[in-house]
Amino acid sequence: IDEKRKTLYRINEKAARFFRHFLETSPEAERARAYLKERGLSGETAKTFLLGYAPEGGGILASHLRLSGVELPLAEEAGVVIHREDGSFYDRFRGRLIFPIRDVSGRVVAFGGRILAEGEPKYLNSPETPVYHKSRILYGFYESRTYIRQKDSGFLVEGYFDLLTLWDRGIRNVVASCGTALTREHVKLLRRLSRNWYLVFDADPAGERAAVKALGLFFQENLFPKVVFLPSGEDPDSLVRNFGPEAFFREVERAKEALPFLLEYLLREYGTSPQGKSAVVKELREILSGIPDPVVRYEYFRLSAERLGLPVPLLLSESR
Ligand code: UTP
Ligand code: MN
Ligand code: MN
Ligand code: MN
Ligand code: MN
Repeated sequence: IDEKRKTLYRINEKAARFFRHFLETSPEAERARAYLKERGLSGETAKTFLLGYAPEGGGILASHLRLSGVELPLAEEAGVVIHREDGSFYDRFRGRLIFPIRDVSGRVVAFGGRILAEGEPKYLNSPETPVYHKSRILYGFYESRTYIRQKDSGFLVEGYFDLLTLWDRGIRNVVASCGTALTREHVKLLRRLSRNWYLVFDADPAGERAAVKALGLFFQENLFPKVVFLPSGEDPDSLVRNFGPEAFFREVERAKEALPFLLEYLLREYGTSPQGKSAVVKELREILSGIPDPVVRYEYFRLSAERLGLPVPLLLSESR
């Protein structure tokens, strides 16, 4: 069993090196190099994160792996190739910019791949494998953890480029969830590094929703992150690329405490009618009841009751 995992690490490592080499040397990858330049990432950052390029061909990685002695069914288990009906294998990632994903010890365990032109899906990701458990892995965790410890604070962002652009401009205490739903295990990992977190999600409806969901999970681990609001339509990458790190820190200065953010969000979502408030209370109760410390929990309920103009016992008791 451990032999199997070792093999899968080795295949992922080989694939990462192949993609990296291809990005650096192949004429086909010129558009990927141009794309990276356009998005303002330095070669240094691209190197630190092992960024690569997967060729269009269809079976180029597959034949490279086979020639270097890898059994393709194992490469399929590693998530980098897919088999056809006729038993042949083709590359999962084709014509994409590649973001290797590392585990907490720095081993490459999966990949994300961004399409360079318009098209769907914008990002393609490795499937779950014996070495890649999405619920336990965060993009950038391995690279950023020392910086998060040093600063005793961290930023949680949504996307690959959000993390990379921040890193590139010197903001290194940052990790990204990258399309996987945040889990309690993720939050436990984050808590080991610092108790002071900022959620910096995209300024769009999906980002706000994700922030609310994330808060519930952080609360369960007795963490109370602040929520940073970006100007409408921006994400951390676009903000920093267009307006510099100063603009980012200005928004961080204005970050909202978790509870006021929640209340404001829910009241906006459901409205202040009797039925609206009822819905607010229901969702709030679910989120707050996960807080392990009873005093903190009670205080959050009390402050919420105050804001909603309702008596505390009404918030605490289940409705029928
Ligand atoms: P976004 O849609 O905000 O993309 O998704 P982005 O990171 O800003 O992408 P750019 O700036 O256009 O390159 C946030 C994250 O969700 C995941 C990716 O990890 C992405 O970075 N995602 C998004 C997927 O896994 N698949 C998708 O099709 C889209
Ligand atoms: Mn699994
Ligand atoms: Mn988004
Ligand atoms: Mn973006
Ligand atoms: Mn985004």
